[in-house]
Amino acid sequence: MSGGAGVPAVAPGAVRVGIHDLAVATGHHVLDLDDLAARNGVDPAKYHVGLGQDAFSVPAADEDIVTMGAAAALPLIERHGTDGIRTVLFATESGVDQSKSAAVVAHGLLGLPSTARAVELKQACYGGTAALVAALGIVARDPRERVLVIASDVARYDLDSAAEPTQGAGAVAFLVAADPDLIEIEPASGLFSADVDDFWRPNDRSTALVDGRLSVSAYVDALLGSWDDLADRGGIAPADIDRWLHHQPFTKMALKAHRAWSKHVGAEFDETELATGFTYNRRTGNSYTASVFLALAALLDLDDDLDGRRLALFSYGSGSVGELLTGIVKPGYRALRRAGQVAGLLDARVPISVDDYRELHAATSTSSEARQNPAVTTGPFRFTGVEAGARRYARTEPTPN
Ligand code: HMG
Repeated sequence: MSGGAGVPAVAPGAVRVGIHDLAVATGHHVLDLDDLAARNGVDPAKYHVGLGQDAFSVPAADEDIVTMGAAAALPLIERHGTDGIRTVLFATESGVDQSKSAAVVAHGLLGLPSTARAVELKQACYGGTAALVAALGIVARDPRERVLVIASDVARYDLDSAAEPTQGAGAVAFLVAADPDLIEIEPASGLFSADVDDFWRPNDRSTALVDGRLSVSAYVDALLGSWDDLADRGGIAPADIDRWLHHQPFTKMALKAHRAWSKHVGAEFDETELATGFTYNRRTGNSYTASVFLALAALLDLDDDLDGRRLALFSYGSGSVGELLTGIVKPGYRALRRAGQVAGLLDARVPISVDDYRELHAATSTSSEARQNPAVTTGPFRFTGVEAGARRYARTEPTPN
């Protein structure tokens, strides 16, 4: 249903579009990287300082990208209703079906109107930003519409691999709307695509293959390439960007790339400036498509001085695509934040031992064999099991009126 109460009527062409509200969800368990370091015989400083990570989220056996994505979106539906939502875009690279989109399952779990399109998008970690850009276009075309974007992923690498400490899980959902309350996205962006085999997951694997060193340089190339493209399109002076947010496969990656950018443009930067945006990602690990938006959530929650400030959001998806977007934070954003909510969510995760994590890791959640999953999660949705090859989900608490 479009055109309901509270949906702005703005003439196409004059419309300002952006992120109206956003919310976060993650997995039920948390693995402390000190425990993994002890198991792997590694100095914990390698993880905390060398990679810039402290822990990672581990989904329970009855959680997956759908349950996390729907859990992130639920508070948005509770706060804003469904008026105007005619599109649900679900970005993920840990998809659970090759045909049916996670968007249509989340759409059902959230009780969204049948008068909405539901689609899944994929290009590694870039998918969430691809969904944002598509949503901006949909709303610019008809400002009465709102788009629900869900970015949700479980990052899985082989046990005992160099990439193992950079796993993680998380979801961010956001509403894209005209005259947004949080961030107005500016029209120009910088783009960079190159066909690189730095990280990929063939159809017969549940863990990614990665050339770690190549992935680091490919990420840096994409940031510099995106910056140069934005510069060629009119650009923004480095000094006119107030805060930077990057995709964070591990937070040190963002730092490394930003150092390279600062050398590239000849700008000084204080490395502590990036720390606020690292706050949640240090604790969740890589959440792939959701990662840059988790950084945004941290900044909005924890930085009190963002009124009218310009943010730069750099998204990188292996393979590879980079995009650099900018946006202006709306004055009054502080009144909209839910202080301590995400920290509470992260604190509430249940610690998991290395042995139990390894056991969960070995169980392939994408199998289509019939099963019933144990009831573990305390989140609002469960992946209850598989019947006749189809994944089944359920709400764990009654839908609010
Ligand atoms: P590694 O074997 O841990 O590398 O693999 P390392 O031995 O070079 O150590 C890492 C850092 O720890 C180094 O710092 C060491 O000096 C430091 P750096 O030189 O890089 O600044 N270190 C220590 N520091 C303090 N105390 C110590 C200590 N020991 C060592 N005692 C690698 C690292 C990133 C390759 C691995 O974790 C990996 O393969 N990760 C997965 C790939 C990845 O995340 N790539 C990032 C770019 S690609 C991307 O972002 C896309 C992605 O999200 C997927 C998608 O798009 O879908 C991954």
